[in-house]
Amino acid sequence: MEGGCSSKGPSSKRLEGKVAIITGGASGIGETTARLFARNGAKIIIADVQDDLGWAVCKDIGTDENVTYVHCDVTSDTDVKNVVDTAMLKYGKLDIMYNNAGIPGKLDFTIQGVDYEDLKKVFDVNVYGAFLGAKHAASVMIPAKKGVILFTSSLATVLAGTSPHSYTASKYAVVGLTKNLCVELGQHGIRVNCISPGALPTPLLSNAFGMEKSTLEELLCEAANLKGVVPTAEDVAEAAMFLGSDDSKYVSGVNLVVDGGYSSTNQNFTLLLKNKFNVLN
Ligand SMILES: NC(=O)c1ccc[n+]([C@@H]2O[C@H](COP(=O)([O-])OP(=O)(O)OC[C@H]3O[C@@H](n4cnc5c(N)ncnc54)[C@H](O)[C@@H]3O)[C@@H](O)[C@H]2O)c1
Repeated sequence: MEGGCSSKGPSSKRLEGKVAIITGGASGIGETTARLFARNGAKIIIADVQDDLGWAVCKDIGTDENVTYVHCDVTSDTDVKNVVDTAMLKYGKLDIMYNNAGIPGKLDFTIQGVDYEDLKKVFDVNVYGAFLGAKHAASVMIPAKKGVILFTSSLATVLAGTSPHSYTASKYAVVGLTKNLCVELGQHGIRVNCISPGALPTPLLSNAFGMEKSTLEELLCEAANLKGVVPTAEDVAEAAMFLGSDDSKYVSGVNLVVDGGYSSTNQNFTLLLKNKFNVLN
């Protein structure tokens, strides 16, 4: 199972008593986050379109009391409202809405290669889906005067040229929504943040590149700025736990980049000086 973290390991219960919805929770970052949140005492609702996978993850995480799967296409207003209603019916509240579902779209980095159907699909899921999640979560968080809304954006918002134009633009939109919402919802005690992961060996990327997970991991480690660490979905899940928990109670409006410093580097000139001209050591 993707993520590989068991729901039965030791726990610090940093999310005890919290109720969380995780969209895209059947696979990759969402699945790993669901497992980590559950280990830390949260009640989880996994919302996804991969029903068999979603239910399997649920069964592996815990019992019907603390984890549920709800079919939810994030591009459907009705589906997203239904997930939030389920949280309210079952647990009476919603503490964390993690809008994580996303798709990469066509793997074409050229502007000539952009086609409207693909662009629309990417924006529907990545942007409209995020708007719907925020809208329905806010409708129950505002009366409660508390809550956390989280999004998964991308490294593409801090390092240009790393993704197709449609994906990059969609993830910038998510950062824009994060910042604007943080202002609107701050007065209601609701924090709004997003996480921008660097490339990770999840099904999204291995499918996009047609690559085995192990090959992808090797590639990512070789390209990484931070050596000695294999990047995993768990690293993003840990960031989501920090932002979802009371440990970050005064953090809002942040785009938290989880990329081992990759977006901070551009060594092109330095390496040329070192390797081609022997000017530096
Ligand atoms: N993997 C990476 O390298 C990487 C890097 C940066 C950002 N991200 C972002 O992280 C998020 C999670 O991606 P992942 O890597 O875990 O990929 P993944 O493919 O493993 O998981 C994405 C999940 O979203 C679900 N999903 C897709 N469309 C949906 C819809 N319309 N409604 C509900 N669920 C839907 C899928 O069924 C899947 O379970 C995405 O937003 C992605 O853009 C991923």
